[in-house]
Amino acid sequence: MFANFKNKLCGALALLVMLTATAFADDPPPTPEELAKIKTANAECLTCHSEAGLKKPPKEGLDLKKLRNYLVDPDTFTASDHGQMACSKCHGDGYDKHPHDAKAKEGLSECQDCHARKAMRIERQFDKSVHAEHLSDSFTCSTCHDPHVMTLAAKLRDPHKIVAQDNKICLDCHDSDLAFAKIAPEKKKRPPIDEIHSWLPNTRLHWQAVRCIECHTPTEDKLSLSHEILNKDKAEKKCATCHSANTSLNARLYRHLAKEEQNKYGFLNSVILSNSYVVGATRNPSIDWIVIGLFVAIVVGVIGHGLVRIITTRMRRSKNHD
Ligand code: HEC
Ligand code: HEC
Ligand code: HEC
Ligand code: HEC
Ligand code: HEC
Ligand code: HEC
Ligand code: HEC
Repeated sequence: MFANFKNKLCGALALLVMLTATAFADDPPPTPEELAKIKTANAECLTCHSEAGLKKPPKEGLDLKKLRNYLVDPDTFTASDHGQMACSKCHGDGYDKHPHDAKAKEGLSECQDCHARKAMRIERQFDKSVHAEHLSDSFTCSTCHDPHVMTLAAKLRDPHKIVAQDNKICLDCHDSDLAFAKIAPEKKKRPPIDEIHSWLPNTRLHWQAVRCIECHTPTEDKLSLSHEILNKDKAEKKCATCHSANTSLNARLYRHLAKEEQNKYGFLNSVILSNSYVVGATRNPSIDWIVIGLFVAIVVGVIGHGLVRIITTRMRRSKNHD
C-alpha cells in the first residue's frame, strides 16, 4: 500500500521534473545569466560536434568517421530559432558524457512537445500533404526542418534569403537521388526536377526568386503558408498568379516586408516581363514615369516653342509697326 503510494509519488515527481525541464515555446526568453550557462554547456558539446572539434578532438579514440556526419555549425545554430536553447533541452541528458548513453536517442523531443498549439494547426495541413499520405511512416516534421538551422521567415525578411532556406529543404531531396531513395526506398525513381518544370522559363533562376511551396500549396490561407503540399496536377502553372499588379506573392513571400518594399519586388517582376515574356501581364511603373516624363517634356517643349514664337512674332510685329 505504502509502496504503491511511493511509486505514484515518484511518478508524479518525475512527471513534474520532466515538465519543468521542457522549454515551452511560450516560456519567457532566458535571462542573461541563464544564457551564459546555456552557452557554456553547448560549447561542451561543440568541442566535438563542430568542424573545429573534428579537426582537434578533445580526446583520443573518437569515431571521427561517425562524428563527421554529426556536426553542428555553431554560428548557424546561434542565429537560428533555437539558438538560445541548451542542446540538452531537446536531446535530453544522455549525452552529457562520451561515450554517450546507449539509450540517449530515446530522450529526443519532437516539435509537438514544445509547440503544441502551433504544431496542431500545421499537423492538420501536413497530414493532407502528398508526403504524409504516401510516406506516412518515414516522413516527419524534422525530415524537412533541421532544428539547428531553421529560422523563421519573419526574421529573415529578405525574400531571397527566405527562398534560399525554404527551397533548400525541397531540393536537398528532390534534387538528390541518394536522399530521395533513402526516404522512399520502394517507390518510383526520382522525377527529374528540371525536366518537370521545363515550361517555366529560366527554371533555376525562378527557384532563386520564388519558393516551391508558392506553387505547390493552396493559396486560400492568406495568413500563413500552408503545409499542405498537393498532388502535381493541383500545382500552379499560371504566370499571372505572380506576374501581375497584385501578385499573390505579396500575401505570402513578401508579407514580412513593408508595403513600399513589396512594391519594389513586384516592380522588378514587371520590369523583366515588360521586356517581352508575358504580354500585358503587368503595369510597369518605371515606364509610366518615363512616359510621364516624356509627356511633360513635350508639353514644356510645345509651350516653350509656342511662347518663343509668340514673343518673336510680337517683337517682329512691333518692329514692323515702328
Ligand atoms: C568528447 C566528444 C563528444 C562530446 C563532448 C559530445 N559528443 Fe556527441 N558524439 C560524439 C561522437 C564521436 C559521436 C558519434 C557516435 C559515437 O561514437 O557515440 C557522437 C554522437 C552524438 C549524437 C548522434 C548519435 C545518437 O545517439 O543519436 C548526438 C545526438 C550527440 N552526439 C549529441 C551530443 C550532445 C547534445 C552533446 C553535449 C551535451 C554531445 N553530443 C557531446 C562525441 C561527443
Ligand atoms: C530544438 C531542438 C534541438 C536543439 C536545441 C538541438 N538539437 Fe540536435 N537534433 C534535434 C533533432 C530533432 C535531431 C534529429 C534530426 C533528424 O531527425 O534528422 C537532432 C540531431 C542531432 C544530431 C545528430 C545528427 C543526425 O544526423 O542524426 C546531433 C549530433 C545533434 N543534434 C547535436 C546537437 C547539438 C550539439 C546541439 C546544441 C548546440 C543541438 N543538437 C541542439 C533537435 C535539437
Ligand atoms: C524542447 C523544446 C522544443 C522543441 C523540441 C522544439 N522547439 Fe522550436 N522553439 C522552442 C523554444 C523555447 C523556442 C523559442 C521561443 C521564442 O523565441 O519565442 C522555439 C522557437 C521556434 C521557432 C521560432 C519561434 C516561433 O514563434 O515559432 C520555430 C519556427 C520553431 N521553434 C520550430 C520548431 C520545429 C519545426 C521543431 C521540430 C523540428 C521544434 N521547434 C522543436 C522549443 C522547442
Ligand atoms: C515538406 C517539408 C515540410 C514538412 C514535412 C514540415 N514543414 Fe514546416 N515548413 C516548411 C517550409 C518550407 C516552411 C516555410 C514557410 C515560411 O517560410 O513561412 C515551414 C514553416 C514552418 C513553421 C514556421 C511557420 C510560421 O508559422 O511562420 C513552423 C512552426 C513549422 N514549419 C513547423 C512544422 C511542423 C510542426 C511540422 C510537422 C507537423 C512541419 N513543419 C512539417 C516545410 C515543411
Ligand atoms: C526527404 C525527401 C523529401 C523532401 C525533403 C521533400 N520531398 Fe517531396 N516527395 C518526396 C518523395 C519520395 C515523393 C514521392 C511520393 C510518392 O509519390 O510516393 C515526393 C512527392 C512530392 C510531390 C508530389 C508529386 C506527384 O507525384 O504528384 C510534390 C509536389 C513534392 N514532393 C514537393 C515537395 C516540396 C515543395 C518540398 C519542400 C517543401 C518537398 N517535396 C520536400 C520526397 C521529399
Ligand atoms: C511556378 C510554379 C512552380 C514552382 C515554383 C515549382 N513547381 Fe513543381 N510543379 C509545378 C507544376 C505546374 C507541376 C506539374 C507539371 C506537370 O504535370 O506537367 C509541378 C510538378 C512537380 C513535381 C511532380 C513530379 C512528377 O512528375 O512526379 C514535383 C516533385 C515538384 N513539382 C517539385 C517541385 C520542387 C521541389 C520545387 C522547388 C525547387 C518546385 N516544384 C517548384 C509548378 C511549380
Ligand atoms: C509562383 C510565382 C511565379 C510564377 C507562377 C511564375 N513566375 Fe516568373 N518569376 C517569379 C519571380 C518572383 C521572379 C523574379 C522577379 C524578381 O526578381 O523581381 C520571376 C522571374 C521571371 C522571369 C525573369 C527570369 C530571369 O531570367 O531573371 C521570367 C522570364 C518569368 N519569371 C517568366 C514567367 C513565366 C513565362 C511564367 C509562366 C509559365 C512564370 N514566370 C510563372 C515568380 C513566378
